[in-house]
Amino acid sequence: MEYKIVVMPGDGIGKEIAEGAVSIIKKIEEKYKHKFTINYADIGGIAIDNHGTPLPQKTIDMCKESDGIILGAVGGPKWDHLNGDERPEKGLLNIRKELGLYTNLRPAIVYEPLKEASPLKSEIIGEGLDICIVRELTGGIYFGEKGVKEDGTAYDVLSYNEKEIRRIAIKGFETAMKRNKKITSVDKSNVLESSRLWRKIVIEVSRDYPEVELNHMYVDNAAMQLLINPTQFDVILTMNMFGDILSDEASMITGSIGMLPSASIGEKYGLYEPIHGSAPDIAGQDIANPIAAILSAAMMFKHSMGLTEEGTAVERAVEEVLNEGIRTRDIYTDSAKLVGTKEMVSLIAEKISSW
Ligand code: IPM
Ligand code: MG
Repeated sequence: MEYKIVVMPGDGIGKEIAEGAVSIIKKIEEKYKHKFTINYADIGGIAIDNHGTPLPQKTIDMCKESDGIILGAVGGPKWDHLNGDERPEKGLLNIRKELGLYTNLRPAIVYEPLKEASPLKSEIIGEGLDICIVRELTGGIYFGEKGVKEDGTAYDVLSYNEKEIRRIAIKGFETAMKRNKKITSVDKSNVLESSRLWRKIVIEVSRDYPEVELNHMYVDNAAMQLLINPTQFDVILTMNMFGDILSDEASMITGSIGMLPSASIGEKYGLYEPIHGSAPDIAGQDIANPIAAILSAAMMFKHSMGLTEEGTAVERAVEEVLNEGIRTRDIYTDSAKLVGTKEMVSLIAEKISSW
């Protein structure tokens, strides 16, 4: 089959890790005899430098014609002086909104050989920890009215309407149905009005999924429970900002933030990116972990293209390389084999062609 893929490397380590994902995509193309047309587009800081805006119209148009989108990361100190709408991050927020990508799936899976790389004790991580955070991505405080008043007060409005909550709740329950049929809806309904509506709608939606066990948790408690008893979770369903924070926390259970991929999906399009940022401090040094970007490509194969076998092959290649003790610096522990970004990518690619 023929597929159009748009790659937006962005800034910092975004370039290196997106290139890693591209190498793996090409390996899959070769092995499974597909035709992937890969086009590059600018987003974030690089787009500000090249086009004077973090999200050029051309990038949006290209994404709208694609079958799948890969993004590296955006942002860096070079653009930190810019305010509000001019920042690189605004490019990412706007493309999510433009493409209607309201569902963000962030799976946190612990690979057995990486247990030692986790800061948590191995008895806490247990066996086969596998959590999926379902984060609302186009609403909430990220997109509410914001500004600075005359007296200098800064504000960001947090609001959700029923429709926004219902559609992400449905995605949460659908995700749970394909997994262990357990949802923890995370909110702050003891304080926030928008969370009280969130809880009400989630309960309503749950009536259509009687097989799924639903429980509710306040976000502060959820942050703690992730550290003391992470195996209690299957699907965590939550609003935009809580999902941002909890997914960084969950990533560390797996050993490194460099391990977590994500899928941002709407009715029509799919954008796939690591959950980590552009890490300007280690950019260009061939030490970044490309696995989150590579696993994001695996998610693209599965979710946007229906290429389940191809996606699974990528995941299996990553697992085998980790089983052999090969590690980038962020997941390195004693007696492992330390490799750079490029070598990690080529070892994963070799696995795919070896079968
Ligand atoms: C993420 C990132 C983004 C977010 C930033 C870069 C805007 O932290 O994808 O988790 O907050 O959503
Ligand atoms: Mg984040």
